[in-house]
Amino acid sequence: MTYVVTEDCIMCKYSDCVEVCPVDCFYEGENMLVINPDECIDCGVCEPECPIEAIQPESEENIQWLEVNREYSQQWPSITQNKEAMEEADEHKGEANKYEKYFSENPGKGD
Ligand code: SF4
Ligand code: F3S
Repeated sequence: MTYVVTEDCIMCKYSDCVEVCPVDCFYEGENMLVINPDECIDCGVCEPECPIEAIQPESEENIQWLEVNREYSQQWPSITQNKEAMEEADEHKGEANKYEKYFSENPGKGD
């Protein structure tokens, strides 16, 4: 089992989640973070840290995001330190269909 970052993170990236992870398994894309499911130890401490509840335990409902997390955690750089949220994060909070509208395959800057 693993935790997954869902599409709510897209265009927000508050990044409060990364500092608490004991195994540093978050990876940064241009506008979203993901968790490496093979590195996550299922501790759950990151889940309450996200102010918009973008992190969920793996389930049948979020299998699509599990695959996104798996694929891009192998391509994007590691992020272990909190950084500024995206500029228009508050405006994009809770918006629907963020993946179709904004998802970018480009890597972020990482630490
Ligand atoms: Fe890291 Fe634990 Fe969150 Fe997995 S559940 S990403 S190990 S803090
Ligand atoms: Fe994304 Fe929430 Fe972390 S918005 S970067 S999952 S704190």
